[in-house]
Amino acid sequence: MTDAVVDAARDRDATALSLDELRALQLERLQWSVHHAYENVPFSRLAFQKAGIHPDDIRTLADVARLPFTTKSDLREYYPFGMFAVPMADVRRIHASSGTTGRPTVVGYTQEDLDNWAELVARSLRAAGVQPGWKVHNAYGYGLFTGGLGAHAGIERLGATVIPMSGGQTARQVQLIHDFEPDAIMCTPTYLLTIADALEAAGIDPRSTSLKVGILGAEPWTNEMRRQIEQRLNIDAVDIYGLSEVMGPGVAMEAVATKDGPHIWEDHFLPEIIDPETGEPVPDGQPGELVFTSLTKQAFPVIRYRTRDLTRLLPGSAYPAMRRMEKITGRDDDMIILRGVNLFPTQIEEIALGIETLTPHFILELTRQGHLDALTVRIERHPDIDAATAVAAAEVLKLRIKTSIGTSVDVTIEEPGSLPRSEGKYKRLYDLR
Ligand code: DLL
Repeated sequence: MTDAVVDAARDRDATALSLDELRALQLERLQWSVHHAYENVPFSRLAFQKAGIHPDDIRTLADVARLPFTTKSDLREYYPFGMFAVPMADVRRIHASSGTTGRPTVVGYTQEDLDNWAELVARSLRAAGVQPGWKVHNAYGYGLFTGGLGAHAGIERLGATVIPMSGGQTARQVQLIHDFEPDAIMCTPTYLLTIADALEAAGIDPRSTSLKVGILGAEPWTNEMRRQIEQRLNIDAVDIYGLSEVMGPGVAMEAVATKDGPHIWEDHFLPEIIDPETGEPVPDGQPGELVFTSLTKQAFPVIRYRTRDLTRLLPGSAYPAMRRMEKITGRDDDMIILRGVNLFPTQIEEIALGIETLTPHFILELTRQGHLDALTVRIERHPDIDAATAVAAAEVLKLRIKTSIGTSVDVTIEEPGSLPRSEGKYKRLYDLR
């Protein structure tokens, strides 16, 4: 990647590029990335050959659609290091996804990859309004998960002070938030709810802390959840998106000024939306599965990686050249098909959070009743509300789900504090069939 346009772009903030400049940069980088994968990753070369395409055939950005996809199962097949495109001696760090089923996926980074990642997280923090000199409480988990260390490096790169708390030990989180007076917090949205409850339990008004902004992600959350969090903690809550296979946190970031969905950092990642059934690209604005091709990654290039995340691409706003993604509805594997109706946990969240006597603490249980599947929403009542009032709220929830999603569910009211609390990515759906 020695082309003048690439060097020039590296020297200035790519968020200031014009659309034409950005597209030119993306094409240069795409051509580099495709060659790099073809020449150094046996899986890619084979897949290209099977698809009858050579890296030299990529002449425009639209040609990306001619390339074969990469799926999570492809990555698993080459466990642990078979997808790496550089010698192991050049790999400075490894991360791995937890892998709820089967082998985890393992990803690697060169020093330059780590530098780019830190830069993109710093850029994301800037978009969130975080200032150099601020203290940032980092409650994403440290370790093989990309959240903790990824956020950490970006906070330092921005010139802010990192408080490397990691996830869990909620009482300790509360104490440090109280004593260290951080300006910003990074964690999952559901974990921030857990922290808010714990603040209250410790006799601290969650609205009274030093926190000004929450940089929240790693799981789907709705605008209704944003409103609740902002209100409850008196902060701005913004959405950070990413995935280990493509880098980690900081692939896309919502601007605090607009709060209208994460901007994809397109100078490093080329997004597409495809129809998940047919694999055909769909135009911007149409919903489908998000697919990424990395443009600069050295150790672990990904070509048309299928994220399974469902969203759509929208025009840039705070950063005009960088397209946004709508807040993620869910992953295709979170989708519940209930008697022929498709629904996502985020849809239930959206409806439940609109009912004041209920709380955002709920889980979903899928069971089989005779030949039919049934879904039960188990949701905690608000502590200030008596059980009878909450039962009425349950009826409202049921009705609203029926009218807006078109399917009947059961709702049970749970006692405050009785459901499991989040310590990171929250597990909402329990399949008991
Ligand atoms: O969750 C990276 C990350 C860490 C992002 C911290 C943001 C903050 P994985 O563990 O590989 O990586 O999980 C990636 O989590 O494909 C989405 O399904 C989901 N996800 C991540 N961010 C968001 C978000 C990290 N803002 C998977 N909204 C992705 C909705 C998200 N879903």
